[in-house]
Parts: sequence; structure tokens; C-alpha cells
Amino acid sequence: MSKLRTSATAPITVQSEIRAMSVLCEQVGGINMSQGICDTDVPAVVMEGAKAAMDAGFNIYTRLDGIARLRDAVAADWSRRNGVPVDPEHEVLITSGATGAFYCAARGLLDPGDEVILFEPMYGYHIYTLRGLGLEPVIAPLEYGTWALDVDALRAVITPKTRAIVLNTPSNPCGKVFTREELQAVAAIAIEQDLFILSDEIYEHFIYPGHTHISIATLPGMKERTVTISGFSKTYSVTGWRVGYLIADAKWIPAIGFFADTVYICAPAPFQHGCAAGLELLPPSFYTELAAEHDRKRAQTVAALQDAGLTPHIPDGAYYIVADATPLHGATAAEKARDLLARTGVAAVAGSAFFRKGGGENLLRFCFGKRDADLDEACERLRSLSSK
Ligand SMILES: Cc1ncc(COP(=O)(O)O)c(C=O)c1O
Repeated sequence: MSKLRTSATAPITVQSEIRAMSVLCEQVGGINMSQGICDTDVPAVVMEGAKAAMDAGFNIYTRLDGIARLRDAVAADWSRRNGVPVDPEHEVLITSGATGAFYCAARGLLDPGDEVILFEPMYGYHIYTLRGLGLEPVIAPLEYGTWALDVDALRAVITPKTRAIVLNTPSNPCGKVFTREELQAVAAIAIEQDLFILSDEIYEHFIYPGHTHISIATLPGMKERTVTISGFSKTYSVTGWRVGYLIADAKWIPAIGFFADTVYICAPAPFQHGCAAGLELLPPSFYTELAAEHDRKRAQTVAALQDAGLTPHIPDGAYYIVADATPLHGATAAEKARDLLARTGVAAVAGSAFFRKGGGENLLRFCFGKRDADLDEACERLRSLSSK
């Protein structure tokens, strides 16, 4: 075998249906509801905080776990919201987005060959990251359509090699918010089986009426075994800044931080300051208004999908809607997404991107974290489907 080859864990072809749809959408000048790029305005204090930091010379490496100002702000914010103390010096790691946090946590805590459970539908990056690290993703399906936790399905996939469960609440793609009862059931299993929980809570501020975001780390006995992952990409609409964080027991931070350091050294220094300014200066009403604004966008998108005959599963949180693609032409969800783009100029993602092979073929995912003018236009175009 030639020594000039890719690694055993690198995929032979990297295919991202989300990226493919974005390219096709651009070609036809369509409206992109496929990618989770929230393109709403960045809060002014966050923007000014980053600019001021650049002008003040904060353009060099920071400590691998982030600037004290941001660790302090993250710890204070998280403690206030969850009623649990967090030590900013030893329990917080500022990362290159939630993506960097997830990668480094998996790298720092798990070994190749370990099994890691994910709930289906699942977020692609989680499974790709695990595979890339030589870990074995194992799927526990949620109840189809209601997306309720199926405890039996979870128990059925646990083996002696299981080391961790990945949670995502609110979830991408179906907007599921795990209830307290569901989290208690997951926590009981994690404690009984001695498992880590990697909990991706990046959409924690996107919660709709009737639902409450709960961090599983706050449940009894869970702090030691939970890595809580979040960040600023979505909340402050700064996906390109690459600032996120994780909160974990102090004994895990050095191992996880080692990989953060060796992969990217630190999150971008001036953007850490911008995000710290946001946490320090934005009032609680910023977050409630963010949720209310997205609740309006959710209602608008749900109504347009219903009018188009694409029956939506109404999300509890996050800013995606999975909808039934029956009226569209095509044998697969990827073909149906292309049919929708051709007929309406709206790009969505094939549901199959979030399921094991064969699943999600009759679903499309729509992102409604868009500017009002774009969302208005997208909804109008979707409605035109019923007359085509
Ligand atoms: C569930 C989930 N986690 C993480 C991310 C990425 O977050 P970040 O930009 O902080 O890396 C996304 C983005 O779509 C996501 O949907």
C-alpha cells in the first residue's frame, strides 16, 4: 500500500448534503433555508466589544482555556441561570465554538473503540467527529414523529464498551427540548452504567412557550460526569467568530484543554472580548426577545409549510423545522429537496442527513433563523408550491 494515502479515519468522499444544497441554491439565486447560519444582526455591544479589543491590542494568543474576563462571565451567567456554582478558574474552557468543545471533549475523555450513544435524528457533526476519532457511534432512535425519549431503545444499545451518551437539547434538526423526566431517565442510566454525558446546548436560548431548557449537569449526581457545551455562534449571530465553551468537572479540564491547545491554541482573542461584553452588558430582556423573535419566525414558517402541504413537526426549541416532504417529486429526500428548489427557489436539507441510511427520506429540514425580509420571501415562495 502506498504511503501517500489518507488516514484510516478520514472519509473517502466528504459529502455534506447541507453544503451541496447551499451551492445549488446560490446557482439559482434562491433563498437558503438549508444551512444553520443565523444571519440576523449581531448585538451592538458584542460588535463594539470585539472592535475595541482589537484596537486595544488584544490580538495575541490567550491562555488555552480563554481570557479570565470571558471565563468569569460564562461562569457567572451559567450559575445565575442554573442555580449551580461554577468555578471560572478550573471548570470552564473557552473553545473554538461548540464544535471545538465537542471535539476536544471527545478527544480528551474517550479512547478509540469506545462506543458513544447518539439519539436519532442526530446532528451530523457529532457523528462525523466521533468517527474521525476512531470512536464507535451507536444510535438510539427517538420515537419517530414525537421525538420522545425511548428508554428501552437507549438501554438496548448499551454494551460494556459504552462510555458516553451525546445529548443535544434543544436539538438540531427536530427542535426537541428534553423534558425533566427524560433527562432524569438519561441521568439514571448514565449513573447506573458509569457513563459520561456530552451535552450540546448551543440552542439553549431558543426555547418556545411551554418548554423549559434544563441542563442535565444540574441534576443530582450529574456534575461529575457531564460536559456541558454551548457557545455564542447562535445567540449572538456570530457563527464565523468561533467562540464557544464547555463546563465540566475540574478534573477533566486539563485533558480536554490539552487538545484545544494542540489543535488551535485558543479561541480568537478579540472575539472572546466581544462575547464577554455581550454577557456583561446585554440585559435579560435580550435573551427573552431573542426567543420571542424566533417564536414569531417559527409560527410564520409553520404556517407557510402547512399552506404548502409540507406538514411540519412543530419544534419546541432551536430554529429548525422538519417537515413532511410527501407532495414533492423524487424517490429520496435529496431528490425532493432539489425538486423544491427547482419549483420554489427555496433550499432545504434532505432529512436523510440526520438519520441512518434509509431514514428521513420523506423529511426536509428548514432553518428559520433568517432575516425578516428573507423569511417573508421564503414563506411566500413555499406557499406558491400548492399552486404548482
Ligand atoms: C447542535 C449543534 N451544535 C453545534 C453547532 C455549531 O456550533 P459552533 O458554531 O459553536 O461550533 C451547530 C451548528 O449548526 C449545531 O447545530
